Parts: sequence; C-alpha cells; structure tokens
Amino acid sequence: MAPGGENFRKGLAGRETDLFILSNSNGVQVSVTNYGARIVSFTTYNKLNEPVDIVVGFDSLEDYLTTDEIYHGAVIGRYANRIKNGSFSLDGITYNLQKNNGPNHLHGGPGGFHNVVWEAVSSDSKNLLLKYISADGEEGFPGTLTVTVRYELTDENELKINYNAESDKTTVINLTNHAYFNLNGQGSGSVLDHLLYINADHYTPIDSNLIPTGDISPVAGTAFDFTKSKTIGKDIEALKEQLINGNGYDHNFVLNKKVGELVLAAKAVGEASGIALDVFTTEPGVQLYTGNFMKGVNKLKRGKKDEWRSAFCLETQHYPDSPNQPHFPTTKLKAGETFASQTIYKVSLES
Ligand code: GAL
Repeated sequence: MAPGGENFRKGLAGRETDLFILSNSNGVQVSVTNYGARIVSFTTYNKLNEPVDIVVGFDSLEDYLTTDEIYHGAVIGRYANRIKNGSFSLDGITYNLQKNNGPNHLHGGPGGFHNVVWEAVSSDSKNLLLKYISADGEEGFPGTLTVTVRYELTDENELKINYNAESDKTTVINLTNHAYFNLNGQGSGSVLDHLLYINADHYTPIDSNLIPTGDISPVAGTAFDFTKSKTIGKDIEALKEQLINGNGYDHNFVLNKKVGELVLAAKAVGEASGIALDVFTTEPGVQLYTGNFMKGVNKLKRGKKDEWRSAFCLETQHYPDSPNQPHFPTTKLKAGETFASQTIYKVSLES
C-alpha cells in the first residue's frame, strides 16, 4: 500500500506538502504527493490476488528531494523532454532556457514542474485537483501559465490524468507524467521480459544527444516495431546506432491517431504478475524510456534498489524539440486559449 503520509508532510517553499490517497471499490489504490504532482504508488492485484505496487518510487518526501533520479512519478513541464540547445523562437522572439542536459534543455529545467509544490485545490477519495501558477519568464519560458492536473481513480481501474492550462502570453507547452513502472512490482528486477505493444507505425529517430533528427521513420523491420507485442528486451541489444544513442529505448513513438483523439497508445504486461497496463492518450506521441540511466544507487520504497532497467516509462507527449521542428505537431499555446490533454493508465489482469 501507500507509504506513510507523515513522511510526506513538510513546509517547502512557503507551501505544505502532503500525500493524497485515492482508492476504488476494487481495492486499487493510488497515492500522489503535491510535491511535483507525483504519483508515489499505484497498488493493484496480481494473478494470485496479492497486492502489488507497480510504481517505482520512494518512501518519503526527503528521498524525492535528495535522489539524483528527480523525475519519478512527476508531472513534467512546462516542456517535457528536450529542446535543442535550450533555445527556440516564437513569434519572432528567441527564448533561451537552461541547458540542464548536455547542450540541451530537459524536462522544463531544474525548477520545472517536478520540483515545485502544487496547490491541492480539492480532494476526495477518488479525485485530486492540483494547481500551479508558473510565472512569466520562469525557467526562461514566456507567459504566466496557470496549470491544473486532475487525478481521478475510477471503479474501472483507470487512473485518469487531465491536464489544463492557460497563459497570458503565447508560449509553448508539453506536459506529461513521468511514472516509472515495473508491473511485477517496484524493485522486483529487470523489465526486459515485460511484453509491450505500442500503437505506432513511426518513430522520431534521435542524434547522439537524444534530439530528434527531424525524420519520421517507419518502425517496420526495426527494433522499434512494437505493433505486435514483444518483450521490451527482445531487440534492445541488437540495436544499431539508434539504440546506442538512447542507451536503450529512449525514443518518441508517433501514435497512429487523429489530432486530439483518445486512443490506446501502448499496453504492457508483467510476465510474472500478469498485471497489464493500458495507456490511452489524446497526445500525438509517447516516449518509451527503459530505465537506462538507473544505476542501482538509490534506495526505493521498502528498501529495494533502483537497478538498471528495472522500470519503464511511457511518457505521453508532443514530440521532443517541437518548437524547433515546424513539421511536428505544434506545442504553441496562444495567449488566452485553453490547453487540454488527457492520459489514462488502466490496470487489469492479462487473461
Ligand atoms: C526521460 C528522458 C531520458 C532521461 C529520463 C530521466 O524522459 O527521455 O533521457 O532523462 O527521462 O532519467
């Protein structure tokens, strides 16, 4: 079940942090802290009807504040993923962001949405509404952006995440959730034998700094073809340049869908637990990240270690570096317009 709530209560940057527990009639439970709007745990049942926590994370706020793996479970923004050379132009003005990932900008910068305390606007046993106002110029982005994230746990075992935002100046936006999953249970070893399906006939190849080259390439005949379920590990070592660039899978898949349509983006199954995770989204892409930077040095919940590739992320998103790639779906949010996006993580048992 969820870690102790008392480990998450702290005054931080003038706000109070806490742990919020959502539960449904099937005994599924999700806990979220307003520090970084993070999913801390997601407990469901395996094929033996034993409770299993499938989100990799930490036991206390202190651990989230001190780890070197800073994105666990968090909402990422204002721009999830990378922006080349930390720079982009919008309506004729060039904006310079922090280069916090080699020469590039990553995940909204050091003071991104993962590292701020969100206001808990309302909560009940199935819902949590979080809000954050990102100041004009914060981390280099233009416009005061008001963002809300609503987590809702349904009796259909879906965790629905609804993102909304509005800015007073035209800006760019790309929001995701960075939960690390292990469907056999967090800390239970490699995810390479998990089965994975991704609803994508194309992906965006990357250079050695993980920036899209701008190509939209077919997955057919490559290691990126997950259109028929295969294990995550099946082709991971057989990879040519692309998987070396990503140190494993760290790539954006172009989902087969119409703009704004909610579709099944991916499905993963834990080979030992039988737990299946369906990911639905209105976003045009999903980043598959296979825990390639996990080093086994961080102590996870219940004393487990964050071993290499012992988690995967399916980060629903717009494509990386979209502000510099005019042929990618736009991430521009015009002043006064409303941004809305939905992602659903649904758990079930594979029959
Ligand atoms: C992913 C990103 C990876 C790595 C990871 C966090 O979203 O694509 O390259 O930065 O987050 O370690």
